[in-house]
Amino acid sequence: VKKIGVLTSGGDAPGMNAAIRSVVRTAIYHDLEVVGIRGGYNGLIEGHFTKMGPRSVSNIINLGGTILKSARSSEFRTKEGRAKAFEHCQAQGIDALVCIGGDGTFTGAQIFSEEHGVKVIGVPGTIDNDIFGTDNTIGYDTALNTAMEAIDKIRDTATSHSRIFFIEVMGRDAGFIALNSGIATGAIDILIPEHNDSMEELFTTFRKAQKRGKNSSIVVVAEGETLASTYELAKKTKVEFPEADIRVTILGHIQRGGAPSCADRVLASRLGFGAVTGLMKGLTNVMAGIRSNQLVYTPIEDAISKNNEINQDLLQISEILAL
Ligand code: F6P
Repeated sequence: VKKIGVLTSGGDAPGMNAAIRSVVRTAIYHDLEVVGIRGGYNGLIEGHFTKMGPRSVSNIINLGGTILKSARSSEFRTKEGRAKAFEHCQAQGIDALVCIGGDGTFTGAQIFSEEHGVKVIGVPGTIDNDIFGTDNTIGYDTALNTAMEAIDKIRDTATSHSRIFFIEVMGRDAGFIALNSGIATGAIDILIPEHNDSMEELFTTFRKAQKRGKNSSIVVVAEGETLASTYELAKKTKVEFPEADIRVTILGHIQRGGAPSCADRVLASRLGFGAVTGLMKGLTNVMAGIRSNQLVYTPIEDAISKNNEINQDLLQISEILAL
């Protein structure tokens, strides 16, 4: 490997900048050239390249978002789009790509590598934590803390007004943010797609809470919950408990921004380093991850197709502690 291209793609995540910085500085340390590709795979197709040096990544380790910008590219899903991208890689002399992102990013990387022989390595960057092959994805810890702080603030007003709040958090089809932020904020119930929930169970939880003298409650709902939309959950609850004062808050994209946490900065630094050193060892079509505090490489195929399991203990703990 002589020249590495680095890009961020898909939904941005706090810590992506720390990962870019790590890729750039590790590559330069090993006398490799690095080129930044702006705007994800679209930048590869349109030829938006920036030569990167150690100073081009100064003062970014603490910044949310991504200095390289991100996009979800529909053109890269086409053979023609990928052929254009390959022409630019050849013209630039790029022989390997570090692709920072989630599922969609990795799928694109894998197809591109199989079609054109460019080496690729994935770095998991998404707040959803839904990537197999790493205990945590970059951005997840920061998003959790953002959600937790927001829910804490909502609890203040929920308590003052003796209200029930349904709070929706992100996570696409996964419930990691919901489960963990719910436990951390003492939610009375947590609804996630990985668990079969029913309205009756939810109502039973409210009835028990009433009996125990609770006068305000927080229910954390994962956006991917399949039982009902968060607004529908609130509506149905109002029909069952007409006296209850109910509000809904959708936390939304606030969870994607902000300065990365210490854990995310360190994780991103380790994974950026792992991506470059992996390429130097001849690895391709793998994703760098950290499992049990060890740098590991997982075939991209597995990272995409397998699922991170929800910890069943956490589910049980969340129920017991909501007493
Ligand atoms: O994958 C990150 C994520 O924030 C998901 O949690 C959410 O479902 C989705 O992206 C939102 O996408 P967009 O920013 O395109 O609305």
